[in-house]
Amino acid sequence: MTKGIVLAGGTGSRLHPLTQAASKQLLPVYDKPMVYYPLSVLMLAGLREILIITTPVDRPAFERLLRDGSQWGMKLSFATQDEPNGIAQAFLIGEEFLDGHNCVLILGDNLFYGGGLGKLLTEAVSSQHGAHVFAKEVHDPERYGVVAFDEDGRATSIEEKPTAPQSTWAVTGLYFYDSRVVDIAGSITPSDRGELEITAVNKAYLDAGDLHVVQMGRGLAWLDTGTFGSLVEASEFVRVLETRQRLKVGSPEEVAFQQGFISAAELRDLAIPLVKSGYGEGLLELAERHLP
Ligand code: G1P
Repeated sequence: MTKGIVLAGGTGSRLHPLTQAASKQLLPVYDKPMVYYPLSVLMLAGLREILIITTPVDRPAFERLLRDGSQWGMKLSFATQDEPNGIAQAFLIGEEFLDGHNCVLILGDNLFYGGGLGKLLTEAVSSQHGAHVFAKEVHDPERYGVVAFDEDGRATSIEEKPTAPQSTWAVTGLYFYDSRVVDIAGSITPSDRGELEITAVNKAYLDAGDLHVVQMGRGLAWLDTGTFGSLVEASEFVRVLETRQRLKVGSPEEVAFQQGFISAAELRDLAIPLVKSGYGEGLLELAERHLP
């Protein structure tokens, strides 16, 4: 079994004052809180046991929103990151939860959308060994972890926020690891900015010859939520998709049903109280199509 972690910590300082009193990962992206999107990605990967890591002050809000997950056929638990000491700390905080299992980590502010996402995820989950990460070409690689490739498409270097990037390929905030990750996270030292960098973990896998980097093609969108403008764009993107198609994007209720975690009757019961806002409409329709 593979377990999941959603990391929703951090001060969100790049979005102040929006995030001065509210968690970044609970901000709206069109019709749902941001954290629904990464959570849905883990569900799409088939994971049902997920740890949500938040700041201490935001934890009650996440618990109120997500509950214990049983409404979606999931098992959710919560933990806190008391200081923003880096992404890799998630594995140390989650050590007991992981209990020697393989894991998938997703950052609570990363949005993915596109055909073929489910297949990409299930393939990464089923390869039990090493680390699997995803890279996407961007205009501003210096803001991200950057991976460079040789002619055969094998990763040759990985660097965090390099001033002189070796490539335009950014590493996304979705990471698949075997059970070694906890020991690796425990062995790395904080970077110059005082953080346990996820890039240092990936570098350790690269040095061991066990880092697999999958380039995300043009059919997959990786959306940014890091600035006021990109946050609005992400909302608009989801709004356009959801109003033009009969599908929802990043809805845990819908994914839970599609994955067989809940029945059509359970989906209907979830949808009814959400019809008033409009969120539940498509879900109710979906449930009714599958009910006698
Ligand atoms: C973090 C990681 C970086 C990665 C990015 C993806 O950056 O450190 O390697 O490319 O997430 O969203 P941060 O968002 O903390 O600046």
